[in-house]
Amino acid sequence: MDLLAENLARADAAQIARAAEILRRGGLVAFPTETVYGVGADATNDKAVAGIFAAKGRPHFNPLIVHVRGVEQASTLVDFNPLALQLAEAFWPGPLTLVLPRKGDCRLSLLVSAGLDTVAIRVPAHPIAQQLLAAADIPVAAPSANRSGHVSATTAAHVAHDFGSRLDLILDGGPTARGLESTVIGFEYGKAVLHRPGVISRQELGRIAGELQTPAQGHISSPGQLTSHYAPRAALRLKATSVEPDEMLLAFGADVPQGAAMVRNLSPAGDLVEAAANLFAMLRDLDAARGGCIAVMPIPDRGLGEAINDRLRRAAAPREPA
Ligand code: TXA
Ligand code: MG
Repeated sequence: MDLLAENLARADAAQIARAAEILRRGGLVAFPTETVYGVGADATNDKAVAGIFAAKGRPHFNPLIVHVRGVEQASTLVDFNPLALQLAEAFWPGPLTLVLPRKGDCRLSLLVSAGLDTVAIRVPAHPIAQQLLAAADIPVAAPSANRSGHVSATTAAHVAHDFGSRLDLILDGGPTARGLESTVIGFEYGKAVLHRPGVISRQELGRIAGELQTPAQGHISSPGQLTSHYAPRAALRLKATSVEPDEMLLAFGADVPQGAAMVRNLSPAGDLVEAAANLFAMLRDLDAARGGCIAVMPIPDRGLGEAINDRLRRAAAPREPA
């Protein structure tokens, strides 16, 4: 279904300026980041932020990530601890999200925090996202640009497919480079807690933050981490080493079992960076082709593999009622 949406535009300077104006007026703009596309709104405007929840069909208990230009702007909104500052210095701009306490005079809409006293904040590295944040000159709340629970969007066409004309503008900046969401880190008793595995691996973070902690049991500190998420329509069968004739195959590596109805290979060379970049697009591709089951070959759990396997487990989980 590749209807060319009227609200889709190549992200040149004029369209970025237009997008900034739409954001300042309270509208919704989808834009590329280095991870996935985001659907953005003025994070200080309650009505605009409410518009994101409505467009995504997102439960109101699931807070949003706020995108800013740098540490300086972030410091006007949240309180940094010394470790958070070190991580920001090492990884911003880039695919790391920090969950930090709202400042007393924080001007962000309470809706972005969904009832928590913290805000998830990040500085994207993508030039189009940076130009948009600079031109708009406001903090921009932007969750991944997919309908709630669905596979994330790594191209403007994915965004158009999920939202149609519900957004004021979709800035097309080509496919995103990394293909997986940012890593979400919070802090408890001065230690870093991994809320969501993502593009920056546990090992990379560990060099600065030491061993990452697991969020306290039973405490939904990152409510977006619902069991079923990133889900295509088709069922997924994980760790498949063979395929049934009517199955589609999401392969990894050179040693691919024969006989699938359709095959997409995340990385014939077995490269996890390439696999992450291809994951959501290939899931969408297989899902669009037929209704059958998608068999997924085993992916090693090291480095970026942790985040890839996290997304695959959620995509395979029993679906929660919409
Ligand atoms: O790469 C990314 O992070 C993309 C791009 C667009 O920046 N954004 C993204 O946003 O993935 P979203 O809304 O799809 O995921 C945000 C995640 C969710 O798991 C949410 O629960 C968590 O961050 N989160 C947001 N605010 C939080 C908070 N205050 N405390 C804990 N977790 C939070
Ligand atoms: Mg998301």
